[in-house]
Amino acid sequence: MGLFLNSRIPFDSYRTTASEKYFVDKTALLAELIPALGTNQRFFCITRPRRFGKSVMANMIGAFFEKTIDARCLFEKRKITSPEISRKLLEASCGSYADYMNHYDVIYIDFSRIPENCASYHTYINRVSHGLKRDLSDKFPYL
Ligand SMILES: Nc1ncnc2c1ncn2[C@@H]1O[C@H](COP(=O)(O)OP(=O)(O)OP(=O)(O)O)[C@@H](O)[C@H]1O
Ligand SMILES: [Mg+2]
Repeated sequence: MGLFLNSRIPFDSYRTTASEKYFVDKTALLAELIPALGTNQRFFCITRPRRFGKSVMANMIGAFFEKTIDARCLFEKRKITSPEISRKLLEASCGSYADYMNHYDVIYIDFSRIPENCASYHTYINRVSHGLKRDLSDKFPYL
């Protein structure tokens, strides 16, 4: 588990949101992403106005795909497991949602906050770049 690679931030953040009194289940979005994995159309840019739930969605995506923290408790009773979504995945020849949950290395970088000791853009980007390289070399030392 690293700072950026397989960070626990998405899981922890999404678990907090999902346990709140008012929670909207947007897990059906995952069934839009799954068929795109491994294709040329696998890149998504989700744009919405401020406070429309983009970060929560990013955390949900990270928590679902990331392989180090068992995400069953967050997803097993959600729409992604419903018969309707299961049918949709089967029609797209994607198998079951469970074939994708906790199966990927996820890089998660939050660009919305700059740490206090970063005085310039270059300091900030270097910090992200070095942190990411360190995570990658810890996980894949043979590369
Ligand atoms: N699925 C959801 N169910 C319940 N509350 C949600 C959900 N998604 C977002 N919220 C709430 O809405 C608020 C804004 O969400 P979020 O921070 O994800 O928005 P954002 O689009 O990333 O905002 P910003 O543009 O400011 O970064 C948060 O308080 C969050 O708890
Ligand atoms: Mg946000």
